[in-house]
Amino acid sequence: MEYVEIRGGKPLAGRVEIQGSKNAVLPMLAGCILHAGISRISHCPRIRDVFDTMELLEILGCQVWWEGDCLAVDASGVKSWQIPIQIASRMRSSILFLGALLGRMGRASLPYPGGCVLGARPVDMHLQAMEQMGARLEEKEGRIEAEAGALFGREITLRFPSVGATENVILAAVRGKGVTVIRNAAREPEIEELCRFFREKGADISCLTDGSIRILGGRELKDSRHELTADRIVAGTYLLAAAVTGGRVTLGRMPGQHMAAVLRILQQMGIYMEWQGADLRLDCRAKRKNIELLETEPYPGFPTDLQSPMMTLLAVTEGESRIRENIFDARFKTAAQLQKMGARIQVRGREARIQGVPRLKGSWVEAQELRGAAALFLAGLNADGITQIRNCQYIHRGYENICGNLRSLGADIRAVE
Ligand code: UD1
Repeated sequence: MEYVEIRGGKPLAGRVEIQGSKNAVLPMLAGCILHAGISRISHCPRIRDVFDTMELLEILGCQVWWEGDCLAVDASGVKSWQIPIQIASRMRSSILFLGALLGRMGRASLPYPGGCVLGARPVDMHLQAMEQMGARLEEKEGRIEAEAGALFGREITLRFPSVGATENVILAAVRGKGVTVIRNAAREPEIEELCRFFREKGADISCLTDGSIRILGGRELKDSRHELTADRIVAGTYLLAAAVTGGRVTLGRMPGQHMAAVLRILQQMGIYMEWQGADLRLDCRAKRKNIELLETEPYPGFPTDLQSPMMTLLAVTEGESRIRENIFDARFKTAAQLQKMGARIQVRGREARIQGVPRLKGSWVEAQELRGAAALFLAGLNADGITQIRNCQYIHRGYENICGNLRSLGADIRAVE
């Protein structure tokens, strides 16, 4: 199996262009099957989760192809409603095909989803919402079997603003009958972008002043081309990579409007940033300040997906910092790997207390999930000596050409088969 070897200690310098957003494109790809025609998505990242979703679309009967950086999906031939376990076990986002398949086929059969292991990740809100809209659900041998002669618009109130549940309801509602209103909907930029994607296809979707989302179902959809926004989590990861190495980096195509919470924290820590159009220039050579308490929150708060990479930065920032993880209950797994590299981190429940050390030490470490893998890459870039990261396949789920990009910024990094 592949591992990645990093000889740390080189300040990053140069320019990287930020790829299209993984979490925005995945629900859109599920949404493509609602239209018996062609949908195009440009600036689409070439990452494992997209390749897996392409495979799934083909299994369902779509034709899928690349036109440069644009992914095209022709969903006129969708004939199956069954999602095989091999694909569902790789991607949690396979659950989004529940709403999409019910909308297109009136049926869906899928296993409980896999993806990153971040503690209990139930899908109860997804299932409840589909039932409220008129679907009959059954669990048979570990699979969700769903059927709906038709889906009906309803007022759905989520008990927590779940990103996936909000997306699933939007997908189901677009082809449903009547008006659906989602109360306590997630407000992540990826939700807003999914609504834009469907509006470009002719759907009637609006965001109400209280943050609810209103969908008038049943409008005829048309062929479309959507330009994907850059990935705010990947952008944050490169920002933090520059910071852990004390480098000077320019990030192109930055989705700055969606990153206020992250940029504010980095500014507080003493990182110098300057905008030039959509380019962000960073100078991370100054001494950094610790953060007393950083809490992850639903958007527009600090994103849970950058919590582990942020932990790496705080681990090498003088003074004591604390992180409180409010979204996923088992998202501190990377702490144990960072400890192997000399980080001083104490985890108690949902809180991690980090005592900064001057520098980490190279070691063998093991990635356990996507963003944790990114945190270990950053640790390796900072560390004295050689870091070998096992189980690196996770990183390819979300980061396009990460080794090549870091090498182009001067990092000493190589993938070993
Ligand atoms: C999405 C993102 C993920 C990000 C997360 C939070 C994608 C593909 N993934 O994941 O990168 O970390 O949002 O910003 O876009 N929950 C329930 N029942 C449900 C659904 C969720 O209890 O039916 C809980 C989860 O266990 C978790 C919380 O709600 O504690 C938030 O989860 P959710 O917003 O649904 O995250 P995902 O959509 O899985």
